[in-house]
Amino acid sequence: MSKILVLNGPNLNLLGQREPELYGRTTLAEIEGMVRDAARSLGAEIDWFQTNHEGALVDAVQALRGRADGALINAAALTHTSLGLRDALLAVRIPFVELHLSNIFAREPERHHSVLADLAVGLVTGFGAQSYLLALEGLVRRLRATAG
Ligand code: DQA
Repeated sequence: MSKILVLNGPNLNLLGQREPELYGRTTLAEIEGMVRDAARSLGAEIDWFQTNHEGALVDAVQALRGRADGALINAAALTHTSLGLRDALLAVRIPFVELHLSNIFAREPERHHSVLADLAVGLVTGFGAQSYLLALEGLVRRLRATAG
């Protein structure tokens, strides 16, 4: 069974109330429930984590080594800035899918660049809460395809 960590960055704890026209009305707890249900039918095990702190996200990535087969990462605003998070992903070298609820390429120019994307297996952006499910399916298929 694949073990997958889902990492959520700053302000995603406010989903449901925060700019619903951009991010929808589904709360992070509801998304967690959807991802856990989907993971069960895909035969994957989920660990779920949200933090507003860059260092805590770096710690969570460092802790992945030997503990998870892959990760889904919505680093939120840190996507666009955090070389610390990029370095942690380079150090740990775990397969991950970068995901976003909104289409970052259809937004302000400063959101068009991700400092993580070239390290990712792939990117899912713009499908609202469904981005989590699409990213999960993509990652599980990739892990199966590359499993010994
Ligand atoms: C986001 C996009 C980021 O640019 C933004 O800072 C977020 C959420 C998304 O899921 O669409 O907080 O990662």
